[in-house]
Amino acid sequence: MSTCSAPTMFLLLLLLCAGESQAQRISGRLVNASCVCPVNSSAWTFPTLRYEAVQQLAESCEGSVKNQWDQMKVASEHLPQMQALLQNLTARLEPYLYLRKRGVHTALWLRKLGQELEKLEGDIDRLHGQRGSSETQALSVEATQLRKDVEQMYYYDHLNMKGVKHKLRYLKNRAESCQSIPKDFRSTQPHCRKGLITNISSPVVTKISPFGKSYISGSWGRQAQQTSSRDSYWIQPLANGNAWGITLRLYPSYENFMASTNHEDITLASSYTDKHTIEGPSAVLFGDALYYHCYKSADICRFNLSSKAVARVTLPGDGVGINNKFPYCYYQCRDYSDVDLGADEMGLWVAYATLGSHGNLVVSRLEWDGEALNVTSTWETRVFKKAVSNAFLACGVLYATRYGDDGREEVFYAFDTSTSQDDYLLALPLEKVAKGVASLSYNPRDKQIYMYNDGYLLAYQAMFY
Ligand SMILES: *[C@@H]1O[C@H](CO)[C@@H](O)[C@H](O)[C@H]1NC(C)=O
Ligand SMILES: *[C@@H]1O[C@H](CO)[C@@H](O)[C@H](O)[C@H]1NC(C)=O
Ligand SMILES: *[C@@H]1O[C@H](CO)[C@@H](O)[C@H](O)[C@H]1NC(C)=O
Ligand SMILES: *[C@@H]1O[C@H](CO)[C@@H](O)[C@H](O)[C@H]1NC(C)=O
Ligand SMILES: *[C@@H]1O[C@H](CO)[C@@H](O)[C@H](O)[C@H]1NC(C)=O
Ligand SMILES: *[C@@H]1O[C@H](CO)[C@@H](O)[C@H](O)[C@H]1NC(C)=O
Repeated sequence: MSTCSAPTMFLLLLLLCAGESQAQRISGRLVNASCVCPVNSSAWTFPTLRYEAVQQLAESCEGSVKNQWDQMKVASEHLPQMQALLQNLTARLEPYLYLRKRGVHTALWLRKLGQELEKLEGDIDRLHGQRGSSETQALSVEATQLRKDVEQMYYYDHLNMKGVKHKLRYLKNRAESCQSIPKDFRSTQPHCRKGLITNISSPVVTKISPFGKSYISGSWGRQAQQTSSRDSYWIQPLANGNAWGITLRLYPSYENFMASTNHEDITLASSYTDKHTIEGPSAVLFGDALYYHCYKSADICRFNLSSKAVARVTLPGDGVGINNKFPYCYYQCRDYSDVDLGADEMGLWVAYATLGSHGNLVVSRLEWDGEALNVTSTWETRVFKKAVSNAFLACGVLYATRYGDDGREEVFYAFDTSTSQDDYLLALPLEKVAKGVASLSYNPRDKQIYMYNDGYLLAYQAMFY
């Protein structure tokens, strides 16, 4: 006997009305050898004026469904027809789905914003409780005001999203600064007192990579931890597809580096697809450990040079950009440069971008507490990561560069993590030998900026106020 497979056959109709959707679930019943599916047409409520076309469409859908019932005998061969009809209905309503999505998107976005604000208010209150100051007091007042603004948006639908987002980002950044930057940090580093770099010298080091000019991507520098006695110069070439590397070359001194003598090669992973393989021109040598972006992950790796033990931490944020999602891209994209480590007077940093930050540069502080690697604070900047060619940190300030011409790169943007202020108007030139900049990193011990310039290794002296 052929049946309606009655209880299991449902018809899902998508109804559209002002900005939100309803789904009606209808069970087919076996009546007199016919499959009967009652459709409650009073649920098809459309604001007629604005969505007349949709309403007409909906009505004709209803009509064709009814016709179909009349014609259809309950037989299993009709099921495919039903399915086709459903698909047809879905396909025909598809163009109107955006109406629904747009409304839902806005509502979701507002809800998420509200949650973020609530969390921020909690964080600020806690901060104020721990180390109350006029700054935390002011933050608390501003956060409350912003929450009120957002609540107004729920009621009056004034969608000044851009303004609110901007304010939220600024408040979050300031809370991060209050929380993690010691107020007196700049006075312990006299050259950092005013923060900003004022000029950059012509290259003080120029050398072709000892691996050869075909290794166009990688990173290089000098051990960057101020309290460490190690004085290694190091090169980390990306040998596989100019994207992945497993080798670190160390020279015990500047003289050895310049003469390419006495090197030690350390292998960090057993293959180019190992989970500890280095991805992108990301590495920095800090103390006796190499920090870098680990293979096809959102993780930072810390490789202990003597024990070869690897510790990892996952970057925070919604949708951390990896696998060429947010590489440095100004003028020419540098493959797999999504995540970039750096070091300065304050310690270790990582620059990257996330979907949550809309692809803008984000910078986080990293800390090794002797046992674990942690991300302790995160700031969001206003500059789109793919619109810069590289970045580095000095005195707690993030600097971003852009391509000038084949012989000149330019620092054009700075973001100060201790004040959350930024500056788009810098124009500090960096002379270079080749077109592409794979990596840039600052060294707080000699205040030099190290550039991996295609296969050339360059260094510059940074000048401060
Ligand atoms: C079922 O069919 C009979 C005879 O064809 C008819 O009298 C009856 O009204 C039908 N029942 C329903 C619920 O349609
Ligand atoms: C049809 O839907 C409306 C509103 O969606 C509801 O009030 C009414 O009771 C429904 N009628 C039946 C017969 O289910
Ligand atoms: C849906 O069915 C109608 C007529 O029943 C037909 O004209 C139309 O092309 C079909 N659309 C799709 C996407 O199959
Ligand atoms: C900045 O450095 C460049 C390169 O050494 C030099 O030519 C220039 O005069 C300097 N500018 C200032 C304002 O000191
Ligand atoms: C590397 O590992 C060794 C052995 O566990 C440890 O003694 C040393 O402190 C570690 N060095 C660093 C920089 O973590
Ligand atoms: C670092 O993270 C570990 C766990 O991953 C945690 O136990 C430890 O307390 C954290 N340290 C700091 C300084 O936050």
